[in-house]
Amino acid sequence: MPKEIKIGIFGLGTVGQSVVEQIRVNGLLIEARTGILPRVIKAVTANPHKPRSVDLTDIEVSADPNFILDDPEIDLVIELIGGCDLAKEILLTSFAKGKAVVTANKALLAVHSREIFGAAAKTGARLGFEASVAGGIPILRMIREGLSGDRITGVSGIINGTSNYILTQMSEQGQSFADALKDAQALGYAEADPTFDVEGIDQAHKLLILMNLAFGGLFSFDQLYAEGITQIESIDIAMAKEFGYKIKLLGKAIDRGGSYEGRVHPALVPEDDLLAAVNGAFNAVSVEADFAGHLMAYGRGAGGHPTSSAVVADLVGVIRSFKGEAPPPLSLLPDRLVPKEILPIGEISSEYYLRFSVLDRVGVLAKITRALGDQNISISSMIQNERAAKAKDAVDVVIFTHQALERDIRKALEEIGQMDFIARPTKLIRVDSP
Ligand SMILES: NC(=O)c1ccc[n+]([C@@H]2O[C@H](COP(=O)([O-])OP(=O)(O)OC[C@H]3O[C@@H](n4cnc5c(N)ncnc54)[C@H](OP(=O)(O)O)[C@@H]3O)[C@@H](O)[C@H]2O)c1
Repeated sequence: MPKEIKIGIFGLGTVGQSVVEQIRVNGLLIEARTGILPRVIKAVTANPHKPRSVDLTDIEVSADPNFILDDPEIDLVIELIGGCDLAKEILLTSFAKGKAVVTANKALLAVHSREIFGAAAKTGARLGFEASVAGGIPILRMIREGLSGDRITGVSGIINGTSNYILTQMSEQGQSFADALKDAQALGYAEADPTFDVEGIDQAHKLLILMNLAFGGLFSFDQLYAEGITQIESIDIAMAKEFGYKIKLLGKAIDRGGSYEGRVHPALVPEDDLLAAVNGAFNAVSVEADFAGHLMAYGRGAGGHPTSSAVVADLVGVIRSFKGEAPPPLSLLPDRLVPKEILPIGEISSEYYLRFSVLDRVGVLAKITRALGDQNISISSMIQNERAAKAKDAVDVVIFTHQALERDIRKALEEIGQMDFIARPTKLIRVDSP
């Protein structure tokens, strides 16, 4: 009989069922790779009698969390219920009881980053969370192990498939935001309540986890700037195209020599940039390291099978860690992890796309350019939307700026916003210049 690792799994939803299936299908392969056979012996789920599409033979199912937590036979807990309250209890209790934990719960790891990683460091717990960022793409392992000798200076990416699907549909099919969102929901890409996806919150959770790992610190989720895609209109997509850009929801983190940018927002990405070619529900993460240079990983960021691939890879990592040294969860030795701050969004510098909706009057452009000039913002190009100009309503004027400090841009927009010819709030989208 091969040696076994006994597993308790919380959650038998999309990911939980795939994990059970993958362990059944690939159990012997994992045994051949590690010498230990993984076996799920217990599951806890809200509705234990609900029919499942996966074979649960030999797995006892209960609704009581202690059914797993109090079982001394269980070495590894896999948390796949989502949410923060119970999930946090499960992680902290498992750490205290010396059980290894694998989770896909990005919201928990981001919002309670300092508490969870702090407790894992204190107890020396084994914690795997590959599935929490970019589903099936082994990006955390690439950073933690493949780049363990490099200093990482930047991480950026498209790490929310729902918003990327919506933006792709708007760009390729000319759909409105509302229609593209409806399609995403029908295809199962978006939740009934899509707030976390379309407001950039889900992407911000993942970016925070990436920052902790890439920059070796414990960042605070509250300091991370997050803006979603709900304000993007078809005209912005069309204008971006005219200037050679695609609009993507980007997560971007930069080490500015000890101060850190961390932000999620829509951005104009040059059409020839690799990230511009990431379409539909796919994800991509790009990493800048001082010796390796630029790297990019691409794949499926969600769905039962891709996500379970990452969960089961963590399970293999846990088995290997029982047999010898394993890299610490956040790469740095736990006693070297310190809290780090993220720069306020006003401190970043970028090029900007500004779309003004103005009433067609004499002198409007002069007033806008003067207000920008007063804040030392210089203009790289300007266009008036001809289609809109034919309408009786407001006219769209698009201005691209050179690099400017966001604080100055906001000051100028505040002043312009008071001008009586401004018909609607001005649209600001950052341009992702290399
Ligand atoms: N789906 C993805 O593509 C994906 C990708 C990356 C990460 N994740 C993360 O993976 C986790 C699971 O996602 P999912 O899509 O598999 O979710 P899901 O399909 O909604 O499944 C959630 C499971 O948790 C169970 N559950 C919920 N509340 C519970 C409670 N209080 N006590 C016990 N069980 C409870 C549910 O029980 P019943 O079935 O009995 O009702 C269900 O089996 C989340 O943290 C999510 O963010 C998901």
